[in-house]
Amino acid sequence: MEDIDVLRSELIATVNGAADLKALEEARITALGKKGRITQLMKGLGAMEPEARKAAGARLNAVKDAVAEAIEARKGDLAGAAIDARLMGERVDVTLPVRPGQDGRIHPISQTIDEVVAIFGEMGFVVAEGPDIEDDWHNFTALNIPPEHPARQEHDTFYLPGVGADGGRMVLRTHTSPVQIRTMKGTQPPIRIICPGRTYRCDSDATHSPMFHQVEGLVVDEATHMGHLKGCLIEFCRAYFGVDDLPVRFRPSYFPFTEPSAEVDIGCTREGGQFRIGRGDDWLEILGCGMVNAVVLENCGIDSSRYQGFAFGMGLERIAMLKYGIPDLRTFFESDLRWLRHYGFAALDVPSLVGGLNP
Ligand code: DAH
Repeated sequence: MEDIDVLRSELIATVNGAADLKALEEARITALGKKGRITQLMKGLGAMEPEARKAAGARLNAVKDAVAEAIEARKGDLAGAAIDARLMGERVDVTLPVRPGQDGRIHPISQTIDEVVAIFGEMGFVVAEGPDIEDDWHNFTALNIPPEHPARQEHDTFYLPGVGADGGRMVLRTHTSPVQIRTMKGTQPPIRIICPGRTYRCDSDATHSPMFHQVEGLVVDEATHMGHLKGCLIEFCRAYFGVDDLPVRFRPSYFPFTEPSAEVDIGCTREGGQFRIGRGDDWLEILGCGMVNAVVLENCGIDSSRYQGFAFGMGLERIAMLKYGIPDLRTFFESDLRWLRHYGFAALDVPSLVGGLNP
């Protein structure tokens, strides 16, 4: 029988020297395959004396195990090396410029949210969020819209199966106002938040979509009054539309969750079929607002004899359509690439008051 120690180092050297998985498999066949060198020696054991066979058998088995172990180890190394090579090959240099014509665009709604957040962020507001699926209490009752209230009819609510923690029905939120409730229940004043997000109503035409976006604003502290509400919203309208002397009008209105309530109109002209935002003889409504109703504060456990504040809400598609001249609301959600290329925004032009809102 050939020298087993020599055989062992020879076989292990071949295994360790295998440059790839194919060479390794060849090394395995040479050592352990049907006609492999160890297998052949194993076959020879039968012709030996029992004592010698026992000793040689044990040594051969040890070599067999050592070679098998070396093969497994080498396999692991080669697989790791293959992954490393693949990672190197697929490495993306993120500093390279985008290939012309291949760049993605930012959806006008995302852009509008970024702009609104940039403007209110500068005024000290922070972003708050809430769930799209709400319970009846947060979406209606806590906002001073009790079950029999006519305002419920105006919301064309999508109801969901099951009941919420409040025992009432679950709904797809019909406005972002329930985020006010969640924030007031979870934080002590002073509060200064804006809540951009999706909202849902069973309605669909050129100016309504069953899913749309709103942004809600809420300020609660001990000293905020109607003058702050007016200053803040006038400032917002002028910054958002980029018109320094934009006329802004507050028209008395009604919302169950604010008292007093107002709707905000901005000045515009419609001369010769041309629509323009700015000084003119016409008005366009863009948002609702008011002083937070004391009932709403109390519903959230806030002492209305000490705290007061204002709230507002507006449709994001509406203000995006007005600013960017997008005529049909449904097109926002059709995912038409030609539309996105036309109305979308460059990915790295993040809006800010310093860098500019209008890339
Ligand atoms: N939630 C109202 C709507 O969906 C919008 C709104 C109006 C929100 C006045 C407010 C507000 O916070 O004060 O039509």
